[in-house]
Parts: sequence; structure tokens; C-alpha cells
Amino acid sequence: MPDLADRAFAATFHHVFTFSLLYEDSEVDNRVLDLDSRARVLAVSGAGCGVAGLLAAHPARIDAVDTNRHHLALAALKVAAARRMTSHAEFYQLLGRGRHDDPAGVLRPLMAALPSWVGRYWSTNHHRFRHNLYAEGLVGTFQRLLRQKVGVDADFLRTVQALPPAERLARFDPIFASLRRWWPMRVLVNTPLFQLGVGVNFAQRRRNLRANRAASMMDVVTAHFERLVRTDLETNWFVWSCLTGEFNHDHPDAVPPYLREQSHKQSLVAPTRVGFHHASLQRMLAGATPGQWSHFSLCDVLDWLPASAQRELLHRIARVGGEGAVVLTRSVEDACVVDRVGLSGLYERVEPASTLASEQERTRLYGRVDVYRVVGAA
Ligand SMILES: C[S@@+](CC[C@H](N)C(=O)[O-])C[C@H]1O[C@@H](n2cnc3c(N)ncnc32)[C@H](O)[C@@H]1O
Repeated sequence: MPDLADRAFAATFHHVFTFSLLYEDSEVDNRVLDLDSRARVLAVSGAGCGVAGLLAAHPARIDAVDTNRHHLALAALKVAAARRMTSHAEFYQLLGRGRHDDPAGVLRPLMAALPSWVGRYWSTNHHRFRHNLYAEGLVGTFQRLLRQKVGVDADFLRTVQALPPAERLARFDPIFASLRRWWPMRVLVNTPLFQLGVGVNFAQRRRNLRANRAASMMDVVTAHFERLVRTDLETNWFVWSCLTGEFNHDHPDAVPPYLREQSHKQSLVAPTRVGFHHASLQRMLAGATPGQWSHFSLCDVLDWLPASAQRELLHRIARVGGEGAVVLTRSVEDACVVDRVGLSGLYERVEPASTLASEQERTRLYGRVDVYRVVGAA
């Protein structure tokens, strides 16, 4: 059972619109999940880029689950748009550029195949597409403040992306230093408001501090920025949206995969049935029948849980999924969760897929991205 602080965090987080973008590299997911037409996926949605990205692989079924209705409604919208907006240009305008002249008009026909609560949600929230979806939500608001302080633009990013990593770091160093000195930032990063805004609960905060050997969240944030600067900046859509409020529209692969033309083409003809469940993962699993899902995509939900609850959840997944079921999970820690909670007889870590996924994950938020396969009877 999570501690009191995390129960309060969860109760608050459920009601807050935090993310318009999934802070996970969904290009990695499709590569390692290796879905086929028999696959049935239970996936935590977050902002939905990953769930929408799975459509291109044509699994038989996806059940998207999230305790936050804002995120689930956005995931439902991304899925419906990928399947129903036949013009890639218009689809990209809505979710690649995040804005549309007539948001209410463009969203209305997408609602037909979605649960009625999602339709009601977007009939009152379509204004999020009026200016820029990616500047909305708590994380979008923090990033807007950051941009005002940092003041870099797309031209700066285009210039530094061509430099070798050490020179890039040197160009960013004065920016990091000024952020570390900026008192609103120093105060904000150590508050629960910041944790809500970046989706890091108290358990994950402790894991982050330990993994980075950091004294404060400011050290965690700085170390993260430094890791990001070393990535391929041209295609790193997390860096672009944070520092410019936009994706790099000059590069077709600098966006979450579901937005790319080829993936969109495949999504338009996906035979996949998709369900949206405003519930916890634990509740979905408690009501499941054996074999209901073959793949489980957990985002970093395990990081939000104490070890006993991680063990219980992984045990339950193995019972529902059965032998051969696949689990994809991310953690800020650099440790194998299955070994740590004593379930190595039940799961094997899939290699080299896990090591490659951890190296390729361009958010650089996670110490590990792991794929596990159930090998024993739960
Ligand atoms: C764990 S959070 C962390 C942020 C994440 N890395 C991202 O980019 O969205 C991701 C999503 O999981 C949801 N979530 C957290 N615990 C959950 C649970 N037990 N069951 C279902 N959804 C959960 C949150 O509401 C959020 O939308």
C-alpha cells in the first residue's frame, strides 16, 4: 500500500491535466513489443502517444487504462484521429502542430466511436487546440515559464544540434547555470506542485534521488538536462517541445511515431478494437480473466509503488497473462525490478531488447526500459 503522501498525491493527480505529450519514447515500444495480429494489449495511456502508436502494428485489441481522465480522454482523441482523419496534413495540423482554426468542428466527428464521456469532455475542452495543445496542462505551463527564462529558439537548437556533444554541452552550460541560480526554479523544483507537474510521486522522487545520487530535485533536473543535450537533438521531440513549444517540423521523424505519415497510413486501416477504461491498472487486473491480455505496457507506474505493491502487480500480471506474456516497463532506477522483488523465477528479462531499449529511450528520464517475459506459472 502506498504511503499517506502518495495516496494524497494520487488523489490530486487524478484530477489534474498534466501531460499533453507522453514523456516516453514510443518509437522504442513498437520495436520491442513486436506485436502481431493476435496480440491483446493492456496499456497505461498517459497522454496517449504510445497507445496511438500501437495501432500501426495492427494488434487484435488494445485496452487503454488510466486513473487520470484528462490523459485518457486525450489518448482516446489521438487514437480516433489516427484512425479517422484521412488527410495526413489535417491530422498533423491538429496533433503535430497542436492547433486548429476550428477545434470544435474538427473534433466533433471523431467522437462518434468513443465513449460518451470522452465526447462530453472534448465538447468543453476543445479550446486546448486554439493556440497550442503542447503549451497546455501543468507541464506545458512549466515549460512556458522555462522558455521565458531561457529564451532559446529553433535557430539556436538547429545550430547546436550540428556540434559534437562536448561543444553542445558547453553552449548549454551557461543556460543551466542561470537556471540553477534562478530562485523561482530553486524553490519550485522541491515542491509537490513540481512533482504533480512532472508526474513524479514521492516514491519515484526517492528513487530519482537515489539513482542520481542527488541531494535535491534540482540536481536530478540538471543531470537530466545534461543527458538530453547528448542525444540526437534534431529528432528529439521532447527537447524541441520543451525549448520551443513545437516539434521540429523540418524532420519527419522528429515527432512521436503515431504522427508520422507511414504509421498514420497503417493506423487508418487498423482492424484493432480499442477500449478506454478510466480505472486503475490494479482494478483492471482484478476483474480480468486468464489470457485476456498477452502484452502489458505499464509506462513507469511500477515506480509509483512500494516494493510490496510492485510484487503484487507483477504477480497478478503473470497470472492473467500466463506463460509467454510480455511486460514493458520503465524505471528511473538502474535495477531489474523483477530481481528486486524476488520474481526472477516467474519472469525473464528479454535481452538484448531491454538493454537496447534503455540506450535508445530519448527522454533520458529512465535508468531502465525493460521487457520481461513470463516463464513460470503464477
Ligand atoms: C505514471 S505517470 C508518469 C508520467 C509518465 N512517464 C508519462 O509520460 O506520462 C503516467 C500515467 O499513469 C497513470 N497512472 C498512475 N498510476 C496508475 C495506476 N495504478 N493505474 C492506471 N494508471 C495509472 C497516471 O494517471 C498518468 O497518466
